[in-house]
Amino acid sequence: MTIRFDKLIKSLGTALDIIEGELLGAATNHGKRIAVIVDALGRYFGLDGRTRQNFAICALFHDNALSEYILSERAGLAPHDPTMKLHCELGQRNLDALLHGSDISGFVLYHHEWADGRGPFGKREGEYPLAAELICLADATDVAHRYDTYPEEKIPELLELIRKDAGAHFTRRASEAACAVIDGELLRSLRNDRIQESSEKAIPPDERDMKNRMVVRFALFVSRIIDYKSTFTRRHTSQIANKAWYMGNWYHWDDDLKAQLFLAASLHDVGKLTTPVGILEKPGPLTDGEFLIIKDHVRVTGELLKDIDGMERIREWASNHHEKLDGSGYHRGKTAEALDFQSRLLGCLDIYQAVSEERPYHPGRNHRDTMKILSDMAAKGFVDRDIAGDMDRALAPFDGGDIPFQCPRG
Ligand SMILES: [Fe+2]
Ligand SMILES: [Fe+2]
Ligand SMILES: [Fe+2]
Ligand SMILES: [Fe+2]
Repeated sequence: MTIRFDKLIKSLGTALDIIEGELLGAATNHGKRIAVIVDALGRYFGLDGRTRQNFAICALFHDNALSEYILSERAGLAPHDPTMKLHCELGQRNLDALLHGSDISGFVLYHHEWADGRGPFGKREGEYPLAAELICLADATDVAHRYDTYPEEKIPELLELIRKDAGAHFTRRASEAACAVIDGELLRSLRNDRIQESSEKAIPPDERDMKNRMVVRFALFVSRIIDYKSTFTRRHTSQIANKAWYMGNWYHWDDDLKAQLFLAASLHDVGKLTTPVGILEKPGPLTDGEFLIIKDHVRVTGELLKDIDGMERIREWASNHHEKLDGSGYHRGKTAEALDFQSRLLGCLDIYQAVSEERPYHPGRNHRDTMKILSDMAAKGFVDRDIAGDMDRALAPFDGGDIPFQCPRG
């Protein structure tokens, strides 16, 4: 499958920036700014394009495990840790899996280290990689000074602060590079009206023939981020993706098609990253307004995945998952003729998963009870009757429980 990998990465970056905004109050486009600054610093060090691209991707995703870390703590799965060490560890693990085969060792793991050893892992200048030094400087200064709105005439003051922090918070070489690189032009390129264009430079066009394994790796990376948005849906995306793969096997599809539906399933709720957690986790009934906000996630999914060459079908399947055959679904009110097999299957899998998994407003259900609800919807003409029947037979052995992921070949 040939995909514009850079665009896919940036779309996910946009979604992550929204989460970081919600969780930490970081200003919009934070991750993109870090990527642009790190790229500029990488140029100062004369790094080649490939190395800079890895630096920029890690910079864009430096906080990819933030929600996983915060939720793990909230759910009591991890002890409270004020140093936030865990998001560094999990973030590195996720990126290692995504960028498998590239040497990005320690890039995200050490992005909160201090040159004088006061960071979460107590590493000192020289003991962690350049990428981590640069991400750290870009991240800390953006959080403190907000490059999106920082006044140009105050650049000398900012550089003075960065210089003073050399050898303490920031490494000497990172601080020296920042003082050489941060100027009016760089600052202007970080403003919200230009950040999109600037991030094109940091993460340049990269059309990749993504092998199935790479597609799956990306899908796993995304589903982890989406699922950790809420404790209640911690396995929702990954389970729909696993079930999509399983159904693909059941239908004897080739690995290409299975990988495509696996990716669509992993991305189907990416728009939920913009839905406030308070609404996602509300135990009682939703008000009309809240329901409208929830419903909007599927439009956002389509928005986030638009204009990614090679992703057209995947985007279509993902954004159709709440449509119904009789036109009563959302967000475009499509009817049967406009819903292809994969869209219908993904829609059924989404219902099956939501009904069978435990939610704040209902307990988990076994296969029979779940199928009762899905079959009833099929009988009413909302969802595909044949697909519901196939799922009844194929998924029965798991009794509404989790399906393990089967790794593809090739
Ligand atoms: Fe962080
Ligand atoms: Fe950050
Ligand atoms: Fe959804
Ligand atoms: Fe869903």
